[in-house]
Amino acid sequence: MNDLFASSRFPAIRMRRNRQKPWLRSLVAEQSLSVSDLILPIFVIEGENEKRPIDSMPGVQRWSIDLVPEIANSASELGIPLVALFPYIEKKRKTPTAEEALNPENLVCRALRSIREAGINIGTLCDVALDPYSSHGHDGIVQDGKILNDESIDILCEQAIGQAAAGCDIVAPSDMLDGRVGKIRKALDSNGFEDTPIMAYAAKYASNFYGPFRDAIGTLETLTGDKKTYQMNPANSDEALREVALDIGEGADMVIIKPGLPYLDIIYRTKEAFCIPTFVYNVSGEYAMIKAAASSGSLDYEKAIMEILIGFKRAGADGILTYSALDAARILKG
Ligand code: PBG
Repeated sequence: MNDLFASSRFPAIRMRRNRQKPWLRSLVAEQSLSVSDLILPIFVIEGENEKRPIDSMPGVQRWSIDLVPEIANSASELGIPLVALFPYIEKKRKTPTAEEALNPENLVCRALRSIREAGINIGTLCDVALDPYSSHGHDGIVQDGKILNDESIDILCEQAIGQAAAGCDIVAPSDMLDGRVGKIRKALDSNGFEDTPIMAYAAKYASNFYGPFRDAIGTLETLTGDKKTYQMNPANSDEALREVALDIGEGADMVIIKPGLPYLDIIYRTKEAFCIPTFVYNVSGEYAMIKAAASSGSLDYEKAIMEILIGFKRAGADGILTYSALDAARILKG
């Protein structure tokens, strides 16, 4: 490779030859984005016929259960393969030990059933974590200010079984506690869900880009402290590879890197090292940032998101969770 570059000389070599025409640029394109790369997050709320906007995420709504099939169907008709469901749990249902996470009638379980019962041809993904359900907003249970690892995992296993029983196609542990993937795998297997894949949030950073999401699911005001004892330090990348290796060893079928834009190197290293289906979560703050820049006229929203999405593909992502999934799918469909 280096020899080749060393012997390559202008004017025999002109890189611009391959860039002259749209068809030529498309012929030599190394990457492509397709609708089947997109995963749409959907926020779910109580109520009827409710489509409540989220101020910090212009263009994104929270949907009541009766309308969930409508948005899932829009995604399905565009060819989006998977939706991720996130609940806005009412304050009165939140407890320190997050019992609502195990309620077979909770929002997520009802949303799962509403999609199945409507016969929509789309996969469903659910977060396994307690933050929407806990009064303190943490992903596990807390004692004296400490997140209890092993005790939390027992609850997460129950939560995952409940989701699978309600029809969830893929469970996604997003809590970053140690050893949860293995335990969840075992719990699923011993309850007849050995075919339910685990998409593990393997490298999830303690990021400042989750704010609008926490606003959307109502944990912004309840969260006490930060998540730095379980989510990763943005300074680290070797550690991310160890996290990914552990989750794969424990039985993860696919992994998620999160957030996206500041962590392209982590996607790249993960894919290079493990050759496993690797997904990236283009998170709420990244979406809000692009929307804000677009609304002030600083950039073109549609062009910007397509550039970002192809950037994730180039880094090695097999798919992208993004709030722009519907917009991107429409653009791809022309
Ligand atoms: C929590 C969870 C978070 C997101 C998805 N699952 C936020 C957090 O860790 O507080 C963030 C997604 C986004 O910002 O779009 N289990």
